[in-house]
Amino acid sequence: MTEIASLDSLTELMARQRAVREFTSDPIDDVLIEKILRAATRAPSAKNVQVLRFIVVTDPAAKKKLAELVDEAPAPGRTPWDEVPVIIFVCAENPFGMSATGSAAWGGSVYPGIQNLLLAAHAAGLGTVLTTSRGKLKEQELKDFLGVPEGTHIDAVIPMGWPAVKLGKNKRRPVSEVAYREKFGTAW
Ligand SMILES: Cc1cc2nc3c(=O)[nH]c(=O)nc-3n(C[C@H](O)[C@H](O)[C@H](O)COP(=O)(O)O)c2cc1C
Repeated sequence: MTEIASLDSLTELMARQRAVREFTSDPIDDVLIEKILRAATRAPSAKNVQVLRFIVVTDPAAKKKLAELVDEAPAPGRTPWDEVPVIIFVCAENPFGMSATGSAAWGGSVYPGIQNLLLAAHAAGLGTVLTTSRGKLKEQELKDFLGVPEGTHIDAVIPMGWPAVKLGKNKRRPVSEVAYREKFGTAW
């Protein structure tokens, strides 16, 4: 009974997790940031390699420089990344190689942790948006600035702060559209 109740509340939490791009300037306590990082580190990874590394940037001067390197053209209405309280750079080494199996194991070892982070932040009332697209021309400068070692990639940049807007539930396809019974195409 308890498990059903917690599944329902987890699903409800997931349904309300949105890409938040507008933030207030209120800071986030280090204790809370660490709790969110702990949730991120509870995720599974292939062979339990635990490749994720998190660079948490709050220093205003560093954020300004990083925004120049990452944030090409802030869309109207969205908070420029340097004005967001925290920017988290999620990095990973690829210990699996670039074969199809290796790439799948690598990618699959990165995103569960990122989703844990996004969901944990949401559970704490914080907003985040997972971003992967950025101008790649300044990638080396970005890595040098953050001290990211050779062979380690920046997989995601996640601004995190208190939401400045209230967003409704996310829009996702219903199970009936995406799940099949026994064979692809057979209605669930
Ligand atoms: C792999 C991935 C990459 C994403 N990259 C970006 C990005 O570079 N910039 C951005 O603003 N949002 C990015 N997003 C957020 C999505 O655009 C967003 O989750 C989607 O439009 C649905 O919006 P919702 O989550 O608020 O329902 C990304 C999401 C994922 C899962």
